[in-house]
Amino acid sequence: MPTTDHLISRNASSMSLSAIMQMEMRSAAIPGVASLSIGLPSFETPEQIRRLVARRLAADPEIGKYSLSNGLPELREAVVAFHRARTGVPIDPDRNVIITAGNMQGLNTLFLALLDPGDEIIVTDPGFVSHYEQIRLCGGVPVYWTMKEEAGWALDIDGLPELITGRTKAITLVTPSNPTGRIFTECELRRVGELARRHNLLVLIDDPYCHFVYENGGGYFNLSSVPELAGHCVYLYTFSKAHAMTGWRLGYMILPEQLKKQALKVHDAMLICAPRISQIAGLAALKENAAYLPEFRAVLAKRRKLICARLDRVPHVFSYLKPEGAYYVFPKIIVEHADSEAFALDLLQSARVSLTPGSAFGPAGEGHVRMAYCVTEDTIELAFDRIEKRFPRQ
Ligand SMILES: Cc1ncc(COP(=O)(O)O)c(C=O)c1O
Repeated sequence: MPTTDHLISRNASSMSLSAIMQMEMRSAAIPGVASLSIGLPSFETPEQIRRLVARRLAADPEIGKYSLSNGLPELREAVVAFHRARTGVPIDPDRNVIITAGNMQGLNTLFLALLDPGDEIIVTDPGFVSHYEQIRLCGGVPVYWTMKEEAGWALDIDGLPELITGRTKAITLVTPSNPTGRIFTECELRRVGELARRHNLLVLIDDPYCHFVYENGGGYFNLSSVPELAGHCVYLYTFSKAHAMTGWRLGYMILPEQLKKQALKVHDAMLICAPRISQIAGLAALKENAAYLPEFRAVLAKRRKLICARLDRVPHVFSYLKPEGAYYVFPKIIVEHADSEAFALDLLQSARVSLTPGSAFGPAGEGHVRMAYCVTEDTIELAFDRIEKRFPRQ
């Protein structure tokens, strides 16, 4: 059989499929597996969103067409109102908003717009694996900003200045964090913003989990609410997790006017526009009273309590820090193991429990596993019953 391997680019052949997806694909081949490996909420897209889409599908002759590359004007207006209500910051629907096909696509657009070969983006370690891969694919270099578990996975602000070089373009942040569940403090974030301003860099705020905050009285600090940083922040909001819309592929970016002009060229060349039908769904999500948001949060808070209670029963297997937000916990593996990947594979084969190896989230993630507790309580119980059986207390 002739091979086409020699035709593959160095970029693509040096990549690996994300460990999250690898574990999910391995798990799919194992009947009855209890999977905590993918961050896919168990919720269905809310009824009110599906109803509006059904109505528009039946009555709107434009529904099957491209929108402007920017996105539908009515959705951009809704984004402006939503962003203002959340941050107090006035933005302009034409100058500052691009509707995206989710935050992954938004970030991809930004990296393509920002990076020349060898340029650097500072990323937290542990952090989100797809950021690292996307930066590499765009010819850039992800520069790991290491967090320490002993410091509660807080941002190491004092360590940031020495990572900034003449090639640095931006710093990416996710708070609440995937995978640690840490919520970065206002003080930490303002200091990052201040450094970005001083060095004339961007902060890219990838924000899938802002509605899932369980500590701080439900509050978290959004750096894009600081008016003096408007020229240095790009804010990326996704409908995926908050509105149970992962499959619709929808998000938006708020960005400075000049950057939007550049990013829009890339976005148009790569995608033309986000799917129009999904944009209608987004309109329903932003405009109607999203009563489901507190419900989702309450259900996830209950699952967080459950997974922490189950972790407390296996202190000989894992130690962990209680997550403050998002829906992940990132325990340290205490039992003897070769590395986090070997541990996760053994658990999958011997106990039919799927977890993501911590090494997937950067070098500082080694020795850990990520558990996603957005799955049903029954799945969490089943996974831990099996873990307890696999590692009985001596
Ligand atoms: C930090 C982070 N960014 C982006 C995404 C994907 O977002 P989207 O579905 O909007 O592309 C995820 C999904 O797990 C995530 O955790």
